[in-house]
Amino acid sequence: MYYRFPTTRPRRLRSSRIIRNMVSETSLSPSNLVWPLFIKDEGPIEQINSMPGQYRYPIGDELIKAVDDAVESGVRAFLLFGVTKHKDAVGSLAYDKKGPVPMALKMLKDTFGDSIILMTDVCLCDYTEHGHCGVVEFKDPPELQYAKQPKYVVDNDATIGIYAKIAVNYAEAGADVVAPSGMMDGQVKAIREALDNNGFSDVVIMSYSSKYASTFYGPFREAADSAPKFGDRRSYQMDPRNAYEAIKEVAMDLEEGADIVMVKPAMPYLDVIRLVKQNFPEVPLAAYQVSGEYSMIKAAALNGWLNEKMAVLESLIAIRRAGANVIITYYAKDASRWITEIENNF
Ligand code: PBG
Repeated sequence: MYYRFPTTRPRRLRSSRIIRNMVSETSLSPSNLVWPLFIKDEGPIEQINSMPGQYRYPIGDELIKAVDDAVESGVRAFLLFGVTKHKDAVGSLAYDKKGPVPMALKMLKDTFGDSIILMTDVCLCDYTEHGHCGVVEFKDPPELQYAKQPKYVVDNDATIGIYAKIAVNYAEAGADVVAPSGMMDGQVKAIREALDNNGFSDVVIMSYSSKYASTFYGPFREAADSAPKFGDRRSYQMDPRNAYEAIKEVAMDLEEGADIVMVKPAMPYLDVIRLVKQNFPEVPLAAYQVSGEYSMIKAAALNGWLNEKMAVLESLIAIRRAGANVIITYYAKDASRWITEIENNF
């Protein structure tokens, strides 16, 4: 009985901030957070409509200033996405040395050196004219291609070779971490081999291992102009009804050489975060608080319906409590500032 009822008054341990802090199970630090940044290939800086407070940055001073401000707040890790006007069938700007992400990597490494780490999303959807995360093979005759509902498949094996080229391109430009997000089978193995063969055995792979086919990516797709022009991503991203399948996806990525695994989105999938952490406690686990999660809190805050700071900190604590070591969040910069006040708030 002792085990079930250690005390008759749990409230004793809630009576002051000091004692609550002393017995708290979960911590949150700026060093856990990663800030995603959108890098444009042309045109001026723009605020993202569906994500107030987040911007698309051209290569230049505004990007340096944004990173500098974040560093000032305590953020040390950034995840870069390319946003391109110039798209084609195979996303060739992704493996171009002059693409937006390699250019940003070089500039930020020159400016900030080893005081930050730079991560890069490895995928095709920002760079392909059809918006899919891989190479599309059409099953219709040519005159029907790009019809509203064409018959097509996303070609797994043709795609992972391109991911490998993209990863090497980013590593050459200075990426510390590459993060394949396309949910193609075998992508981690293809990337690890290519990195090792090109002298980048120190580059870390953070794999989007259990990435769900989620509506919560909506604002991101506006931000990155990456919505599929036809069909959806259900043939490669995970089915939201499945939790245990995440164990299989994570196990396969580890087998292939992933260093960090990820669950995405975060808040609607806290059960999956917990499940992965319990099954692989020794593996660093990231969770991605995605664009739709950001926009929901932001919209409520802008309407005066939620206390933004407290909602953000509570959501991040919840993701850490579920078992994430690393959190990728558009709130990284603000949260880092707010965390320093957290002791006074919980
Ligand atoms: C690219 C990618 C996506 C996100 C991260 N990498 C979009 C998608 O799969 O459609 C979503 C991030 C977010 O919503 O914040 N494959």
